[in-house]
Amino acid sequence: LDNGLALKPTMGWLHWERFMCNTDCQSDPENCISEKLFMQMADAMVKEGWRDAGYEYVCIDDCWSSHKRDAQGRLEADPTRFPSGIKNLANYVHSKGLKLGIYADLGSKTCGGYPGSLGYHEIDAKTFAEWDVDLLKYDGCYLDWKLLGEGYKNMSKALNETGKSILYSCEWPLYEWPFQQPDYTAIRETCNHWRNYADVYDSWSSVKSILDWSAKYQQIIVPSAGPGGWNDPDMLVIGNFGLSHGQQESQMALWAIMAAPLIMSNDLRDICPRSKALLQNKYIIAINQDPLGKQGFQTSKGGDFEVWERPLSGNRLAIAVLNVREIGGPGRFMLALAPGWTHCNPDCNVTMILPKYQELGSVPLQTNMTLPVNPSGTVLLTVTPRSKLEWKSFL
Ligand code: DGJ
Repeated sequence: LDNGLALKPTMGWLHWERFMCNTDCQSDPENCISEKLFMQMADAMVKEGWRDAGYEYVCIDDCWSSHKRDAQGRLEADPTRFPSGIKNLANYVHSKGLKLGIYADLGSKTCGGYPGSLGYHEIDAKTFAEWDVDLLKYDGCYLDWKLLGEGYKNMSKALNETGKSILYSCEWPLYEWPFQQPDYTAIRETCNHWRNYADVYDSWSSVKSILDWSAKYQQIIVPSAGPGGWNDPDMLVIGNFGLSHGQQESQMALWAIMAAPLIMSNDLRDICPRSKALLQNKYIIAINQDPLGKQGFQTSKGGDFEVWERPLSGNRLAIAVLNVREIGGPGRFMLALAPGWTHCNPDCNVTMILPKYQELGSVPLQTNMTLPVNPSGTVLLTVTPRSKLEWKSFL
């Protein structure tokens, strides 16, 4: 979507995977969906270096609103859980140098059963703009799938007409795939990013199924990604309960290769230092945010390994080698720079980013590197052509 936003994949935090539809502030005040939760996350984002690492959007998902619209037909936040209202929450988040995201659904109800925007999308767009919200995640529950295209386009237009810059996050293809192949040209014109596939869960099988889906349909989805519009494989679940550290590294590496929005869903008030360092790893973030803006894809698969590659600016390349075997010790993968990679003729500098930072020095084309890759772990590398200057002094 050409609205000047999401020129690089969005970075931020979203409550859904970790906090879901917990509205029980009576017995679980620390973890229920309330203004306090978002204020605490915003505080942590500033204090713990998340904002400085690039994470900018603090986003509300489903279950924030009242069960009824107000007398004017407007959505309103649940008054007991958001006593100060969304506008005040936006002010608070802005005062921290961050941005606020909110959630709605184009059907008659949200997936969680709260009021939907069907018949109200113009009012809702205006309300979000008045509240000074910066991002809208627009879900697609409770709607005839044939109305998806029209509904997503209508909200895109309504947001634009508010005159305020609001990043627009869609789930259009996710809801359309069961019926037909979505029109990615129209989706890219309408949305800043779009979910294609099932919700992420806090498990390796979930993360792996998202990777498998993304590889299977890469010829359809990869060309549509670029500055202003990105495929969204869903939230980073790093820092929660279900992934080993190696699996967390795999999610981070592959989300960077896929030029995916880096939207965490975890508890920033209490996160293990190793997960935090991974999420804030500046080399991986730089791959994700690379200015060339091209999505990477799976380039080979066989035996225990998958290789994924992403072209980067300056004729650089990021390569991820994923070991899909879930038994035994590290697998040894032989990687050589392909003869066709002319930027590396006769050699390139190779840097290992994961599992630990290490400069591997110059590697000639077609020369095997042996990489140990842990089960369900990933080795992430960057390949950099040696500079022309260095060349000249060489000749
Ligand atoms: C379905 C979406 O795919 C999820 O990300 C989340 O927003 C839930 N709905 C909320 O009900």
